[in-house]
Amino acid sequence: MANNIAVVGAQWGDEGKGKIIDILSRDADYVVRYQGGNNAGHTVVVGNEEIILHLVPSGILHKGKICIIGNGVVIDPEALLAEIDYLKQKKISVNGNLLISEEAHLIFPYHKVLDKLREEKFRKTKIGTTGKGIGPCYTDKFSRCGIRVADLYNRKLFREKLECNMEEKNAIFQKVYGYNKFSFDSIYRDYIRFAARIKPLVVNCSVVINEAIRKKKKVLFEGAQGTLLDIDHGTYPFVTSSNSTSGGACVGTGVGPTRIDKVIGVVKAYTTRVGEGPFPTEFTSRLMKNIRSRGKEFGATTGRPRRCGWFDTVGVRHAVNVNGLDGIVVTKLDVLDKMPMLKVCVAYSYRGKTYTSYPADLEVLWKAKPVYEELPGWESDTSGIKEFSKLPKNARGYIRRLEKLVGARVEMISIGSERNQTLFI
Ligand code: GDP
Ligand code: IMO
Ligand code: MG
Repeated sequence: MANNIAVVGAQWGDEGKGKIIDILSRDADYVVRYQGGNNAGHTVVVGNEEIILHLVPSGILHKGKICIIGNGVVIDPEALLAEIDYLKQKKISVNGNLLISEEAHLIFPYHKVLDKLREEKFRKTKIGTTGKGIGPCYTDKFSRCGIRVADLYNRKLFREKLECNMEEKNAIFQKVYGYNKFSFDSIYRDYIRFAARIKPLVVNCSVVINEAIRKKKKVLFEGAQGTLLDIDHGTYPFVTSSNSTSGGACVGTGVGPTRIDKVIGVVKAYTTRVGEGPFPTEFTSRLMKNIRSRGKEFGATTGRPRRCGWFDTVGVRHAVNVNGLDGIVVTKLDVLDKMPMLKVCVAYSYRGKTYTSYPADLEVLWKAKPVYEELPGWESDTSGIKEFSKLPKNARGYIRRLEKLVGARVEMISIGSERNQTLFI
């Protein structure tokens, strides 16, 4: 069995990664987030309790697992502390089992405000972000003016960096957006206070994980968002600002690619997307309402209704390539239980050309017509089924067809949000 596994979203996020990570965590020693921030919303259901994780890895529900927030993640300290308090309230221990990388970049209040102001002012190019300051924080990281966790513990450096950032940001806020200046003192004070609270959690993430790997411990890398939201491989510019694909697991934790044994992609049995951007297989209104309500498709972070559509094998084939997927997990099969007929997109067609690999041209993505294959539905309840072989014939047929079209083996199927509603093949 593979020791170190990366789990990534293979569509536009919300594929059910949280549930799958929670299940795979049983066999892991470490669970590590490597990119994104609290734009993520990973749901784990245990009995009647629904736990939504934004920054803390979804392995936290299992006792004795070490959870790490890697260097590639952007951390809003206020959100992190609120999440730790939320978990404590739910009697989930975060004592000694949660670590954060000293190299992770920090989200500041001006990042969050800038994220929202930009979306409001430039409506034509609006991305529909979560408003958590993710893009502006990564922008600072790549412009080399970002502030990292480690910087908080060098007061002189922290003060200088924050002053320099705020001088530039306040000028932008006033001149471009007509927005009030931020006060240096209150931000500085707040972050010094956060620094004291998180100090016991701060580690060199790369050293911790590499030592664990040398000792043959099992590490699970938890992707956030999904392949089509990846900054390089997604539907740019309607993407998030990090590498959510498997390559991100290496740079976002300080672990070499030779140390990751396996990559698993999570897909829904259909497709969803939150926010703006092209979505070739998007449903029209009747089906949209139906699947949204059956699948409870509302964002775990922002509560926004998710856009829904048919399964798109062009997108998932792309995910198989760019992540090097060894296997896939299909979730939410039960949501399709009542459908008499299902469509699967096998290619896009635009101006007489057929696209079977993912087009980079946004015009094609916006305007292309999906080429569909139709498959019969199973019209029966799958949510209580315990073995793959007991699924209705047409449900097995649907899974086998997806497997063939995307070119990766289906290893697990999820037929409900609970842990025991999972079939292993
Ligand atoms: P993530 O961001 O990839 O972790 O996914 P989210 O948690 O944002 O969204 C997935 C939603 O689907 C959550 O509410 C899960 O509880 C739920 N879910 C996961 N797997 C299944 C499934 O097989 N069937 C159903 N009906 N719901 C599921
Ligand atoms: P999980 O990990 C679904 C989307 C936003 C928006 C775009 C950019 O739960 O799958 P951002 O705030 O990141 O700058 O927004 O990305 N987005 C997600 N969509 N699931 C997520 O995370 C997402 N995180 C960001 O809706 O379209
Ligand atoms: Mg989510």
